Amino acid sequence: MTATLAGVGAALPERVLNNDDFAHLDTSDEWIVQRTGIRERRRLADDASLAELAALACDRALSDAGVVPRDIHHVVVATSTADRISPGMAVEVGTRLGIDRPAAFDVSAGCSGFVYALDHAIAVIESGRSEHVLVCGAEALSRITDHTDRNTAVLLGDGAGAVVVSRSPESLRPVFVLGSDGAQIGLLYVGQDRLLRMSGREIFASAVNAMADHTQLVLERCGLRPDDLDLLVAHQANARIVQAVARRLGVRADQVFLNVDKVANTSSASIPLALAHAHDRRLLQPGAVVGLTAFGAGLSWGAGVITWKAPGAAGPPRGAGEAPRSRGRR
Ligand code: ACO
Repeated sequence: MTATLAGVGAALPERVLNNDDFAHLDTSDEWIVQRTGIRERRRLADDASLAELAALACDRALSDAGVVPRDIHHVVVATSTADRISPGMAVEVGTRLGIDRPAAFDVSAGCSGFVYALDHAIAVIESGRSEHVLVCGAEALSRITDHTDRNTAVLLGDGAGAVVVSRSPESLRPVFVLGSDGAQIGLLYVGQDRLLRMSGREIFASAVNAMADHTQLVLERCGLRPDDLDLLVAHQANARIVQAVARRLGVRADQVFLNVDKVANTSSASIPLALAHAHDRRLLQPGAVVGLTAFGAGLSWGAGVITWKAPGAAGPPRGAGEAPRSRGRR
């Protein structure tokens, strides 16, 4: 038994900040666009709930998958900026969605968090313990941004994206590789002052190497060539990083998805937001082979290959009169 991405959803805060909104930091639209590809980003209101935004993305993913809340028994949220330190935001997200007492927890793995959470979801499905797992990446990076620092303030955005991972009898078996290196924590971290600090140039180089190398590795383990990817969705940190990864891998520009211009770097939310926007643009057809690759604080990384809406996946909504699934399957 294997797993597929069965549905996707996104939710963005309404407030849009464009590059001119940062002119007071001695920066410019020209600098930001040339160095990063970013044109705008979203900002969650200070008193708004990130869990509410995450639940909206999850609700849209469930609708897209044709899966109802009672079919979900596991909720995993990747985030570093939850509304509360404890409990994990996944608990509130599950309740907001009307999911009955799911296994629910958060993953903190920097910008790689969503790929880590997805890897867990696939393992749960492949073990036979669940048919569907809800995986969300949600961030309010504005909560950990030094708004006086042009080196980081222009790069970060807020948002949420989610996928439903479902059992699938037919799809390519997903292959994921994860890793970390704590020796380099100092390059990118959020310290006791709750502000993100990074060494941009070093992170740039490490991100390109790690995302390209680990994508190459998972492709080899799947017996695929870069050309076999229908879409490569890399963590949207910077358009130049994603383009450099693509060049290193030898994938064509039309195989690579970019939405960093619209949302900036949203850390754990970056990949599911990109998947949702690619889906909106009809770039993902059922059965598509999707490469995912991320890199971030830790340093941490994760890459994988998975099928999009594989035919035959578990998922049609259960009939109204049907008995609820055993509560033991968690
Ligand atoms: N506007 C104008 N100048 C700026 C700005 C800005 N917003 N930010 C930095 N600069 C200046 C710096 O002060 C520095 O000036 P100096 O040389 O006089 O000291 C200079 O630009 C830095 O130049 P470079 O290092 O050559 O800039 P680079 O082309 O590397 O771009 C950037 C910098 C955008 C930070 C890039 O290194 C990057 O994107 N790194 C990845 C960082 C990242 O995405 N981190 C987020 C989390 S990790 C992740 O998601 C993978």
